[in-house]
Amino acid sequence: MNTVTVNASKKYDILIGSGLLSTLGAEAKKLGKAQKVCIVSESTVFPLYGNVAAESLKTAGFDVISYVFPAGEESKNGNTFLSLLNFLAENKLTRSDMLVALGGGVVGDLAGFAAASYLRGIRFIQVPTTLLAAVDSSVGGKTAIDLPAGKNLAGAFCQPSLVLCDTDTLNSLSEDIFRDGCAEVIKYGTLYDPALFAHLEEKGLNFDREAVITRCVELKRDVVMEDEFDTGARMKLNLGHTIGHGVEAKSHFGISHGKAVAIGMAIVSRASGCGDTGKIIGILEKFGLPTNTEYSADDLYSYTLSDKKRSGGTVNLIIPKAIGHCEIVPTPVENLRSFIEAGL
Ligand code: GLY
Repeated sequence: MNTVTVNASKKYDILIGSGLLSTLGAEAKKLGKAQKVCIVSESTVFPLYGNVAAESLKTAGFDVISYVFPAGEESKNGNTFLSLLNFLAENKLTRSDMLVALGGGVVGDLAGFAAASYLRGIRFIQVPTTLLAAVDSSVGGKTAIDLPAGKNLAGAFCQPSLVLCDTDTLNSLSEDIFRDGCAEVIKYGTLYDPALFAHLEEKGLNFDREAVITRCVELKRDVVMEDEFDTGARMKLNLGHTIGHGVEAKSHFGISHGKAVAIGMAIVSRASGCGDTGKIIGILEKFGLPTNTEYSADDLYSYTLSDKKRSGGTVNLIIPKAIGHCEIVPTPVENLRSFIEAGL
């Protein structure tokens, strides 16, 4: 097992290793006084791992309740959020009680936002069960729900009290969902770490999971400790995301997040003329991720303009300069369409 410690507005550990789910209760106990724990999960994940999580918590002495909602991004909305808050209130959770987010990014974002809001904030544990959640969304305290006007438009920064990543849970992912998380892993190598990039190039999908997740989490930890509230260095984590969100939105979320980010990374690399564009496209292809889209520059431009990271007339694009080195380039929106066109 590897441990990575985040020291931001809250200090917490991220535990990464095989077989950790059955230690959830013992680890939760170490966080101090709590009587009730509500496991928040969704309809695909809960039948696989809900029992082990609940039994572990019960054995450690907690009263355990569960809130399970239908799997999918469409559940990450205000209705599910309010229904969860009502469930917590009806079950009389108090300020010293805890939530456990058992699942992928949708569960972690929604449960995290509920934990940030209920009684003005209670503790929560992230238990990511997808690669994408393990390397990105479970770490760093971004919580959110979607609004009809767009993805993640309501939320809060709220750090978890613990992240427990059992790498065995990744075994139940379809190869397609696993590849999705790989886009975020490739992003970390491209942004910060030529050695990680080289390991991924060499191993492809057979990379060392525990070591690679640990490395990605260390890289994210460093960024979150430098810029917890996303006003500077943390923006780099959006490599491929600004245009990727345009692809996701235009496809009405038919194109998954990881694939959209892969397309976004390929477009910014080509458009910026990065000397390592061939390597970036090559690794995305090696992982079976798309690097092209049928959407036009006009389509992507209009969806990209509604991205929440836009600041007035400027969009901060993350531009790869070489493997391991990217820059934040404030780009006037009037230049964005031609930039996208150059990358298609
Ligand atoms: N997922 C990007 C971030 O946490 O900042």
